[in-house]
Amino acid sequence: MAREKWGTKLGFMLAAMGSAVGLGNIWRFSFVAGNNGGGAFLILYLAFVLLIGVPLLLTEVSIGRKAESDVVGSFQKLAPRTPWYLTGFFGIASAFLILSFYAVVAGWAIFYLWNYINGSFFTSPEVGYDGAFGQFISHSWHPIAWTAFFMILTIVIVLSGVKKGIEGANKIFMPLLALILIGLAFFSLSLDGAAEGVRFLFQPNWAAFSEPSIYIAALGQAFFSLSLGMGAMLTYGSYLRKENKLPSAALGIGIMDTFFAIISGLVIFPAVFAFGIDPSSGPPLVFITLPSIFEQMPFGGIIGMVFFFALVLASLSSSVSILEVPTAFFMRIFGWSRFATSVLMGSIMFVMGIGVSLGFGIWSGVTPIGERNILDSMDYIASNILLPLGGLSMALLMGWYLKRSVALEATDLTHSPLGSLWYFIVKFVAPVLILLIFLNKIGLFL
Ligand code: PHE
Ligand code: NA
Repeated sequence: MAREKWGTKLGFMLAAMGSAVGLGNIWRFSFVAGNNGGGAFLILYLAFVLLIGVPLLLTEVSIGRKAESDVVGSFQKLAPRTPWYLTGFFGIASAFLILSFYAVVAGWAIFYLWNYINGSFFTSPEVGYDGAFGQFISHSWHPIAWTAFFMILTIVIVLSGVKKGIEGANKIFMPLLALILIGLAFFSLSLDGAAEGVRFLFQPNWAAFSEPSIYIAALGQAFFSLSLGMGAMLTYGSYLRKENKLPSAALGIGIMDTFFAIISGLVIFPAVFAFGIDPSSGPPLVFITLPSIFEQMPFGGIIGMVFFFALVLASLSSSVSILEVPTAFFMRIFGWSRFATSVLMGSIMFVMGIGVSLGFGIWSGVTPIGERNILDSMDYIASNILLPLGGLSMALLMGWYLKRSVALEATDLTHSPLGSLWYFIVKFVAPVLILLIFLNKIGLFL
């Protein structure tokens, strides 16, 4: 069977940008920045996106395009008769971990959309927005039902196939989300006390740089937000035709994704300080901040409705790329149909998601790693450890296993002056930085 391909390069770009832009830019970026002191985190995050993220994005997509296989099979093809393919299982594992909590949070977003459609969030409920949110996420089955709804949407898109289901779904709604966010940022910046939020986001507290966990948080956020290290971008790359040029595509995706994150920061943090919300509230942060912004805006109810609609679509185009990773792998090794594979994988993730959701209710006392609840623990292992390890393996494959000329050709950099820079980064800079950040976190430099 011939491998499915994107219709056009634009099709690939839309799908890849759709994968990158999602809850990571708005929900995850805000709470990770809030937990890690704002400005210092932002500097590290931006540095990692530029220094490691964009070069590795190019690396990952190129590996997929060259090997024309999934995250495990690509390593088998490019490094045959070596155990390299085993690192592909970091990607499969992180897909299960990440989608099972991603679907829970996306379910929260659909619940908010519903509350803007029926008008109940137009004005603050009696218990306040934070009270209403707290009641909702701790309910035994309401959030699970919304998670199921989101997972079904994801599965339906994936089982319709890469081209039909994924390509082009975001043509209208990504620009719309960008427009709403820019408008919201202006409004948020006009609130009383907004300046403190701007300072929090842009003015680094230099003492924070001595804290090892901020480096790993910034690295994890760069990987998560760029959809890097899991094999999602690799799998999308495997549906590319050879003639597409990749370096500009990688840079474009990096810029776009970072733009969404910074604008979200400019929406959330001025409002956080204006409304006296704690910036380190963790995962609930945007869900208690955003409705308070909408409540203060003229036509806020309508804007909130359109915003959450666009957010749900952005989440869908990301979740689809995550589900595609194990789907492509299991379809190949067992020869199952796309239909059966995506339904089975999505169902397993949904069951895991039930546990994540209960972690905000009856299982709120369950803290697998340190003080972290179930969502935070799964996120920590997947985003801060498995994704960087997956990226490290891809960098080493390109920088050390393949010949330099082969690597440059795979990335369309043979005749580019940027070729040497990219090669130096994947060979030395990115692997060394990732290892240093890990060792630093383990406490080697204390
Ligand atoms: N990048 C997506 C987001 O920011 C999430 C994602 C992570 C998608 C890993 C694919 C792989 O929402
Ligand atoms: Na992102």
